[in-house]
Amino acid sequence: MGKDVIIACDFSSAAETFAFLDKFKDESRKPFVKIGMELYYAEGPSIVREIKARGHKIFLDLKLHDIPNTVKKAMSVLSNLDVDMTNLHAAGTIDMMKAAIEGLTKPDGSRPILIAVTQLTSTSEERMQKELLINASINDTIVKYAQNTKAAGLDGVVCSPLEAGMVKEACGNGFITVTPGVRFADGEVGDQVRVTTPERAKEIGSDYIVVGRPITQAENPVAAYRRCVAEFVD
Ligand code: C5P
Repeated sequence: MGKDVIIACDFSSAAETFAFLDKFKDESRKPFVKIGMELYYAEGPSIVREIKARGHKIFLDLKLHDIPNTVKKAMSVLSNLDVDMTNLHAAGTIDMMKAAIEGLTKPDGSRPILIAVTQLTSTSEERMQKELLINASINDTIVKYAQNTKAAGLDGVVCSPLEAGMVKEACGNGFITVTPGVRFADGEVGDQVRVTTPERAKEIGSDYIVVGRPITQAENPVAAYRRCVAEFVD
């Protein structure tokens, strides 16, 4: 499977996003781009079409979570956008995930990569146990949600790079791990807690790293992107 670096385009407008992507116009490798809720809710489906028209692969990160029928119908609408990867919450259950695949699959049988969020990296074990009344450990929960995701027929999960090894052990090497929480060894950590470097994420077995601020806020974003590719892909 091709490893890749996905840039999280966490901008609030199309103008800001295009000003950023313009910096990559002369790059031979077109960055894989993540569009999250902020940008999608600000600009709607047109932002997906426009970034796609520029030749970028797209991970549409909208994390769907609703009753199976609603998720199926929403995925069926999203399937018309021809993104390369999208996602949902594994907490919606296996039935919801199966319905999502049905909605996302085109008449010719093709569909984007579909991955699930297990437990958000912002959820601590303490809060999960006290507020959500989940008595298992956070690692057992992540593994169980990943196994549910696999049972539903999805392709993989979003997780911390530090969890990628245990997910691969439980679900097999072909099960995709998409991992945010990546920082350069000499960079700012910001609000992320469980972080690691692109190089270490590669060793642990991540398939895709999602990198936001270390690239978007860098003095030279193209150089920062190239450094991620050099550490993680090459
Ligand atoms: O700027 P930074 O590299 O921290 O950006 C990470 C991106 O990955 C953000 O878009 C964030 O919303 C997303 N993400 C995350 N942790 C998760 C799921 C998604 O950081 N568990």
